[in-house]
Amino acid sequence: MHIQFSQSRPQGARLIAHVVDKGKLPAATNAAMRAGAEAARFKGTAGQTFDGFVETDGGVARLALAGAGDKNDEARLANLEKAGAALAGKYQSTGDKQLVLDLSESDLTAIEAAHVLLGLRLRNWRYDIYRTKLKDEQKITLEGVTVVGGPEGIEGAWAHAAALAEGVEFTRELVTEPANVIYPESFVARCKERFEDTGAELIVLDEAQMEEMGMGSLLGVGQGSTRESRILAIRWNGGGSEAPVAFVGKGVTFDTGGISIKPGPGMEDMKWDMGGAGAVAGGMLALVKRKAKANVVGVMGLVENMPDGNAQRPGDVVKSMNGQTIEILNTDAEGRLVLADALHWTQEEFQPSRVIDFATLTGAIIISLGNEYAGLFSNDDQLSKELSEAGEAVGDKVWRMPLGKAYDKLIDSPIADMKNIGGKGAGSITAAQFLQRFIADDTPWAHIDIAGMAWSDKPGRTWGKGATGYGVRLIDRLIADTVEG
Ligand code: BES
Ligand code: MN
Ligand code: ZN
Repeated sequence: MHIQFSQSRPQGARLIAHVVDKGKLPAATNAAMRAGAEAARFKGTAGQTFDGFVETDGGVARLALAGAGDKNDEARLANLEKAGAALAGKYQSTGDKQLVLDLSESDLTAIEAAHVLLGLRLRNWRYDIYRTKLKDEQKITLEGVTVVGGPEGIEGAWAHAAALAEGVEFTRELVTEPANVIYPESFVARCKERFEDTGAELIVLDEAQMEEMGMGSLLGVGQGSTRESRILAIRWNGGGSEAPVAFVGKGVTFDTGGISIKPGPGMEDMKWDMGGAGAVAGGMLALVKRKAKANVVGVMGLVENMPDGNAQRPGDVVKSMNGQTIEILNTDAEGRLVLADALHWTQEEFQPSRVIDFATLTGAIIISLGNEYAGLFSNDDQLSKELSEAGEAVGDKVWRMPLGKAYDKLIDSPIADMKNIGGKGAGSITAAQFLQRFIADDTPWAHIDIAGMAWSDKPGRTWGKGATGYGVRLIDRLIADTVEG
């Protein structure tokens, strides 16, 4: 979506929108519209919309009002995003190509106005490349926004938000693509395209290299697939000489469960089992596009989990890169196996100051937290606090869950160092305990289980049905607040 800024309203504008604080209709409305708004009980609460028609110099135009709620609401920025998102949701298929956002009557700051635009752009995103038979009235027609009378500094504020939007959109694209299109090698290729000429460095490990390094845990997951596994690292050195912050993502491009095969209904959802890797790729893109003053590395473990004559079996024992042995009791608990080697390699290769992993790791976290919070597991109170605050600020929320020795014991194995599943209870925690066995004691680490967050069955704050782009804004904000700030 193209966003431009202008001092005066373009000639012949057909769709003109105002952001309305609670109880404050703009002077641009006429008497009929004001009566209509009252009849429709439009008050300007966040995300509420109302429209009517007014005569302008160029003819008749549709005047759209988007509620932003109370000016002093502590969720002010989120409410402004809701206002923008409501406009996109309502007008994206009306046939209007351009929306004029008239801020001449508003006292929004540059940052606040940028959040309206962010909501508009994010909510307008939809991935229609495979829908070849859409009728005209079903297609997205809204292409651009012209901001008129915006506050001083809005262009700069938007430049930052636009980088964020690019990152979120990239994550959504990767998550939305089906698994016959996005598999480990093509995931890497898509990233190579996107990061070309950005100044980021891309490092790719193929199966031979991973074999050489002893990554038996990750490779075991991919061995039943005809698609080769990969590790992708994206490195951005925008800071000084300090150690980088590392983000690590689970990138299972399709999870059938392997020999412990999943039931058929709903299995198609497992195309987005690479949502963690998607978040890391999009988060890195956002940071790189806004040239963040920080050293960051994003590592993605990319595999496909398939049943096959060569697939790993329940009962198999594999060895990870750091020499630990794992008894595979359920081939569907594969994400932790991928992350084990990816996490160890990340620590060894980049000596990061902190490691944060994102993974659609367990169905159990959806039982615990639903689709409101991702599960946060960490060995570090400070990092937990920073992630919780960043998440709260941008809407990618996390809720801390416990870790501990008693849970760790549940994954001891009689035949190997550990088994890849615990017992009946605490499935998200035993998964996190498994990951912690691959984290050095002195490395601050956080694991974020995003199984309930990467995909949405209904439209949400700034997304339609489908991929949410969860994690990108959390990554961006954490770096902004703790490294750059
Ligand atoms: N990718 C799944 C977890 C998942 C489930 C993500 C639903 C998104 C939506 C993961 O690999 C998995 O299969 N986990 C198992 C673990 C079990 C076998 C211990 C699960 O959650 O059932
Ligand atoms: Mn699985
Ligand atoms: Zn999985």
